Amino acid sequence: MSTETPVSVQILRESEIDERLDARLRSFLISIFPNWESIFRKRRAWHDAPPVFTVLATEPSGKIVGHVAVVERTISTEWNARFAIASFQGVSVIPERRGSGLSTRLLDVALEESKRVGYPFAALFCREPLVRFYQRNGWKLPYDSMIMWRDRELPIHMQSDYPMYRELGSTPFPEGAIDVHNPF
Ligand SMILES: CC(C)(COP(=O)(O)OP(=O)(O)OC[C@H]1O[C@@H](n2cnc3c(N)ncnc32)[C@H](O)[C@@H]1OP(=O)(O)O)[C@@H](O)C(=O)NCCC(=O)NCCS
Repeated sequence: MSTETPVSVQILRESEIDERLDARLRSFLISIFPNWESIFRKRRAWHDAPPVFTVLATEPSGKIVGHVAVVERTISTEWNARFAIASFQGVSVIPERRGSGLSTRLLDVALEESKRVGYPFAALFCREPLVRFYQRNGWKLPYDSMIMWRDRELPIHMQSDYPMYRELGSTPFPEGAIDVHNPF
């Protein structure tokens, strides 16, 4: 189908994703992120946390052309404030649809829904070449380190090591080092 074909964007809860769609989504993610096949062969999100919701772009035929999953994480600050946050994963658009603003549309829907759910912040981890792309979309680099931990002693090795965040309400993103926990 040509890129003229309209794309619809919908928000899906886990209860709306049956086994068949789950398998199609995992195949889609493997096609976009072949290096992460070992994860996506089993599940759609990192570190065993199922998405709170998934934003999906499809053509009328049902073909999946874009995806963002939002999982819940907890962040804690140097002064022990804790926040449940929306963590964005698997941001992806098929190559034929790139450069048309579809990822911005998906991200906007995911940000709006995260805000509606009540999360004060959204965060994601990306690779260095995408930092500018996210910055153009309003995402910011934290003031200090933002490290994901399995427990207090063991930082999780991230394949995408640039954390970025968005403020979703009036709470300013905390300054200082941030620990990210999965999920609490
Ligand atoms: C990231 C993505 C969703 C953006 O889709 P899009 O809105 O259609 O945007 P584009 O693909 O046109 O890319 C936007 C910009 O990022 C750059 N970019 C995208 N992927 C890149 C990569 N892997 N390496 C370097 N630059 C990249 C593009 O060159 C473009 O830069 P420009 O606007 O200065 O020309 C899409 O490129 C994609 O699915 N990439 C593969 C999966 C991925 O890496 N996801 C990010 C996980 S954090």
